Amino acid sequence: MIKAIGSAFILTNEVASYVIYIHDRRPTLLHYGGKVKESDIPSLNLDYSIPTGRAVYSDGETTLNLVPLEVSGLGKGDYLTPSYSLERNGKTVFDFRYADYWINEEADRSNPFPLPRGGEELVLLLRDKEGQASLELHYIVYPKAIARYATIHNEGAEVLYINHLASFSLDFPYLGQKGYFLSSSWGAEAQAELLDLPKGELKFKGLTGASSDCFNPFFAIFGPEATKDEGEAYGFNLMYSGSYEISVSRDSFYRLRVQEGLPSTDFHYGVKCNKTFYSPVAVLTYSDQGANGLRKANADFIHNHVIRERFVNVPRPIVYNNWEATFFDFSTLKIHSLVDQAADLGVELFVLDDGWFGKRNDDKSGLGDWTVNKRKVLGGMAALADFVHERGLKFGLWFEPEMVNPDSDLYRAHPEYVLSERKEPALCRNQLILDLRQASVQDFLVETIVNAVKDYHLDYIKWDCNRAFSDIDQAAIYDYYLGLYKVLGRIVGQCPDTLFENCASGGMRFDLGMMSFFPYTWVSDDTDSYERAKIQRALSLGYPFSTFSNHVSAKISHQMFRKTTFGTKFDVAMLGALGYELDLNHLSGLDQEEIKEQIAFYKKHRDLALYGDPVDLSFGENIVMASKKGDEMLISFCSGVNHPLPSLEILRVKGLEEEADYSIATRPEYFDIRDFGDMVNQISPVKLKPDGVVANAVSKVYRYPSETTEVTLSGAALAHSGLKLGMKWSGSGISKTGRIMFDFSARAYYLSKAK
Ligand code: GLA
Repeated sequence: MIKAIGSAFILTNEVASYVIYIHDRRPTLLHYGGKVKESDIPSLNLDYSIPTGRAVYSDGETTLNLVPLEVSGLGKGDYLTPSYSLERNGKTVFDFRYADYWINEEADRSNPFPLPRGGEELVLLLRDKEGQASLELHYIVYPKAIARYATIHNEGAEVLYINHLASFSLDFPYLGQKGYFLSSSWGAEAQAELLDLPKGELKFKGLTGASSDCFNPFFAIFGPEATKDEGEAYGFNLMYSGSYEISVSRDSFYRLRVQEGLPSTDFHYGVKCNKTFYSPVAVLTYSDQGANGLRKANADFIHNHVIRERFVNVPRPIVYNNWEATFFDFSTLKIHSLVDQAADLGVELFVLDDGWFGKRNDDKSGLGDWTVNKRKVLGGMAALADFVHERGLKFGLWFEPEMVNPDSDLYRAHPEYVLSERKEPALCRNQLILDLRQASVQDFLVETIVNAVKDYHLDYIKWDCNRAFSDIDQAAIYDYYLGLYKVLGRIVGQCPDTLFENCASGGMRFDLGMMSFFPYTWVSDDTDSYERAKIQRALSLGYPFSTFSNHVSAKISHQMFRKTTFGTKFDVAMLGALGYELDLNHLSGLDQEEIKEQIAFYKKHRDLALYGDPVDLSFGENIVMASKKGDEMLISFCSGVNHPLPSLEILRVKGLEEEADYSIATRPEYFDIRDFGDMVNQISPVKLKPDGVVANAVSKVYRYPSETTEVTLSGAALAHSGLKLGMKWSGSGISKTGRIMFDFSARAYYLSKAK
């Protein structure tokens, strides 16, 4: 709800109040956080007239260096980080003053960047008469979030240059908050960093043209008393997939300024007379229930306002993807055998990854030539699609539509399609980027994808993007994304039922912009379970599990050479959209049985795994994530490195009905007896040589079962006392409930209200 009361505006949603006050014709922030009353507004304001040090008084009475500003420029006495920087004829001082406001019952949708669905909107208009420009601050209120963006309109005859424009700027009183940021790189996406906020400025920027190459655009600020389940937590995210920056600055008084938006480096964008420049949209969420409250707020918001409605609360199919099984080297025979085996395991969608098109036998050529390589796919793609469909699976293909290899027919025919301001642009993975600013390139992409969906009978597309931008400036990247979003809008408009999976060398574009077209994202090329558990935990603060694409890969991780059981891989992969990506020909009969059991378990709990609230139950070195929906919870417990004499491990689960009873059970897991080494003789009735003929023969028909947990506890006991997990193996001792946990191994628990 939005209300204008005198010089104030109060924005209220289910969880927060956001109070703006027009102070000397400048929008200032009186409060953003838990709900306050309308009658509080006059007393929330402060008299800023006491002179402080060497402050500049541009308004006679107020120094801008003290006031909590909603928008901030250069050269008028506010010396924290500006939220915009403009330039016309060499002049850079602009002074925007509040002129008007209006409220749109339904948010205006003229911003060309992705916008969340729905919402009521407040627009504040500010004008700089001398500078001949106006600035609008847009606030869109949703039940669990407030979205913000800014626009600049050129009212003068000459070009106005935008050197920077943040989507929002917010001045909090500094109370000792901490910042939570997700640094990112290939294979190590979303590495969580919790930082004390120093005086001065912290800047996190990604200039590579892909939102999550360096940092994920999601970040959080925690109140000084915040914990996992209590205290104030603020989330910030950008609905944008290109370069951006986050700035958190603190001054010597008490202001903590938080901003996110387009980068201030290398950005110089000319806006012609009477034209409007838009920032991408930022999303602000809040919870007074700590990190887990923020997780729920973000998940609810994204499901209700970001993901296309067609794909919300819809089960994601269980995928088989051939990449880590074959890479580029496959034949029709091999693919047919993988399809047959995937069908037998219970998989629901077969994805043929890179290498099916053009002259593409490695990553040096072929990108751009999206016609089938008939040597590898005999009879053509429609025939393969039919083969897959006949076996009851859906069928999908990998594309990297934004790219071209110099060694391709597309490049030879259209060198002018390439995005570069130099004749010899740098290569990355042997490829160049197509210039999506050009209408003909946009048309080429739309036609390629729409025709492929039709001609190849596709149910699904994995849309990849495998290089960073170079040889152009940041303003070109901004226009590139305007082009890309147009293309994506046209494609999903024409293929409304096709499931698209977003990918950029893993999660290099894990952002709300891509998510508003493609409902889920390949989280990381790193499928090692412990590394994935870390990444998924960190991402779950900003994004729901339904947006994660997770695959069970070979027991020895390609990325880490770390060996884990299939059970462990599944226990981490199950929180999200599940897939398998390994050579199925290397599975033993027992492996196949185990995978069938996993798939049956996932199908039973899929809705809970995808659409429950993400909850962090981690303690010590254990990464424990859960998905909670109604009276049920699916818990993924991933342990770290083993220690001698391990301490007792107690899993606390808060937020259940205190009076109700809940039963908790482990998902059965199995060990290969050879993994116990000499200690196999602790469990074997006859003496075995660890890698001897007998042990090898036994391992083909017998798996050692994990412990069983079958406990019933009240919600009160789970919250206040916790579930005492079975004692961990520590060199001796075997029992039905004792846990054998190899380093970095995992377990899954299912919790439900006892009948
Ligand atoms: C990227 C993706 C992988 C795979 C390869 C194919 O690295 O992240 O999953 O699709 O491209 O080249």
